[in-house]
Amino acid sequence: MQPSPSAEITELVAQLRSELKKVSQGGGEKMRRRHKERGKLFVRDRIDLILDPGASFLELSPLAAHKLYGGEVPAAGIVTGIGVVSGQPCMIIANDATVKGGSFFAETVRKHSRAQEIAQMNRLPCLYLVDCGGAFLPEQDRVFPDQDHFGGTFWRQCQMSASGLPQISVVFGGCTAGGAYIPALSDQVIMVRGTGRIHLGGPPIVKAAIKEEVDGETLGGADMHTTVSGVSDHVVETELEALQKLREIVAAFGEGKKLTPPPMLPRPPKAHDGETQDHAPTDLKRPIDMRALMRTMVDESALSEFKPAYGASLICAFAHIHGYPVGILANDGALFSESSVKGAHFIELCDQRQIPILFLQNITGFMVGTEAERGGIAKHSAKLVYAVSNARVPKFTILVGGSYGAGNYGMCGRGFRPHFLFSWPNARIATMSPDVASMVVTELRRNSLKGSASEEEIAALDAKTRAQFEEQSDPYYATARLWDDGIIEPNQTRDVMGLCLSLAADSERDHAPRPVYRM
Ligand code: COA
Repeated sequence: MQPSPSAEITELVAQLRSELKKVSQGGGEKMRRRHKERGKLFVRDRIDLILDPGASFLELSPLAAHKLYGGEVPAAGIVTGIGVVSGQPCMIIANDATVKGGSFFAETVRKHSRAQEIAQMNRLPCLYLVDCGGAFLPEQDRVFPDQDHFGGTFWRQCQMSASGLPQISVVFGGCTAGGAYIPALSDQVIMVRGTGRIHLGGPPIVKAAIKEEVDGETLGGADMHTTVSGVSDHVVETELEALQKLREIVAAFGEGKKLTPPPMLPRPPKAHDGETQDHAPTDLKRPIDMRALMRTMVDESALSEFKPAYGASLICAFAHIHGYPVGILANDGALFSESSVKGAHFIELCDQRQIPILFLQNITGFMVGTEAERGGIAKHSAKLVYAVSNARVPKFTILVGGSYGAGNYGMCGRGFRPHFLFSWPNARIATMSPDVASMVVTELRRNSLKGSASEEEIAALDAKTRAQFEEQSDPYYATARLWDDGIIEPNQTRDVMGLCLSLAADSERDHAPRPVYRM
C-alpha cells in the first residue's frame, strides 16, 4: 500500500506556496501601481519575456530577507535564478525597483553574489536586469565596506568577464552609484530611452557635492550614454524591445554553454513508494524510511547500495536522476564511527569515478558518549569531513529533515561549498535541537551560578533558550539569511536535482586519478 502524505507536510507546502505568492508581489500595491504608471514591466514579467518559450526558471532564494526589516524587503528586492535564453542556460540577476528603489540591503548583496558564485561554478553567462538605487543608505555599514559586500560583486563580475563568461546588462530605471557600476562593468549594455539612467551620483548627490543643478535625463539618460559617453551600446524605445535585444545578444554568444544531455535514458521512479513528500520527516524524533524516500527521487527507483550491512546509519548508494549518475549519502540515524568511514570511502569512490554527490541530510549529529569517544569518533568523523572537503566532483545538499551539529559538516553543509543547497519546509538547522540546547545552556548556567539562581530563574532561562533555538532553526529563518539557495517542495526535488546535475555535468574539475583508501 502506498503511504499518504501527512497533514503536516501538506500544510507546510501550502504555507510555502502562499509565502512565495506574497513575495512575488514585490513592494506592495502602491509601488506596483506607480511602477506600472511609468510604463515599466514588473521584474518577474521581464524574466518571463527573456526566457525561451516553455523554459522553466529555477528561482534562487526567493524568501531572502523574509520577515527582516519589518517585512518591507520581499525577496531582498532582487530576483535571481537560472533559465534558458536563446538556447543557453543563463544566470539572471534582476532588481525589483518596487522594493526600496531596487537598492541593496545586506541580503540583497548576498543573494546577488551567491547567484554570481553559482554562475561561476557552472560556467553560466550573467544577464543583469538593472533597476537599482545602489546601497540602501541606512544600512551602508552592512553593505558597503567589507570583502563580501557590494564591492565583492563587482570583483566577481570582472573576474567572470575576464574568464570568458559574458556579462550583459539591460538598464530599465535609475541606476545610481553601485547600481551604475553593474552596467558600467558589463561587456555590453542596453538602455531603455526615457526610464533608463546611469549616474555615479544622481542629481541630489551632484547638487550636494558640486552645487550643480541638473535633471536625471541630462545627467545619465539613455541618449546621452549611447551617443555621447559611450557607457551604453544600444538605446531602445521600450522594455519589450530591450528584452528582445538581449535575447539577440545571447543568441550571438556562439558555442557557449549547453545543457549536457544525460548519459542514460531518463526513467521515472516506480510508483510503489508514493511521492517524495509522503516521506518527509515532520516529526524529527521519529525515524523515517529513508530508502523509500530515496527511491521516489531516482530513475526506476533503482539504488545500488554500497556496504549496506556496514555502518547502517548512513545509506550510500549509486543511482541516476533524470539519466545523470549520482552517488547519494543519506542519514538513517546518528553518524557512528563505522558510518563515517563508510561515507568517506564512498565519497572517494565517487570522486575517482567522477560521479557527482548528493547529500540528503536528516541528521542529529555524530554519536557522543564514552564508547563513541573511545572508539575514536572524533577522528573517524573527521575523515568524513576531510573527504567531503576534498572531493572534486560537484556536490549537492538537500536538508530533508534535521541538520544539527557537526553532522551538518560531515553531510556537506554550506561551509563545504556544495554547488547548490536547498531545504524542505519541514527542515531544521542549528547546532542542536531546542530540547538539547535548553538542557545544555541551563546546565552550564546552573554550574556557573552555583545555587545562586532560583528554580524560577533557571526555568525562565530554559524557556528562553528553547524559544531562541525554535526560532533560529526554522527553515524560513535560515532562508531569509541566505544559508540555503531556497526552500523547495519535496516533490520538486527530483526535477531540481535533474537541472543541477545537467548544469554540473561538464563542470571544470581536476580529473587526475586519485587513490581510494579503504577506511
Ligand atoms: N538608500 C535608501 N533608500 C533608498 C535608496 C537608497 N540608495 N534608493 C531608493 N530608496 C528608497 C526611497 O527612499 C523610497 O523609500 P520609501 O518608499 O520608504 O519612501 C523608495 O526607495 C523608492 O524610492 P523613490 O526615489 O521614490 O523611487 P524612484 O523609482 O522614483 O527612484 C531611484 C528610484 C533609485 C532612482 C532613486 O530612489 C534614487 O536616486 N535613489 C538614491 C540613489 C543614491 O543616491 N544611491 C547612492 C548609493 S551609494
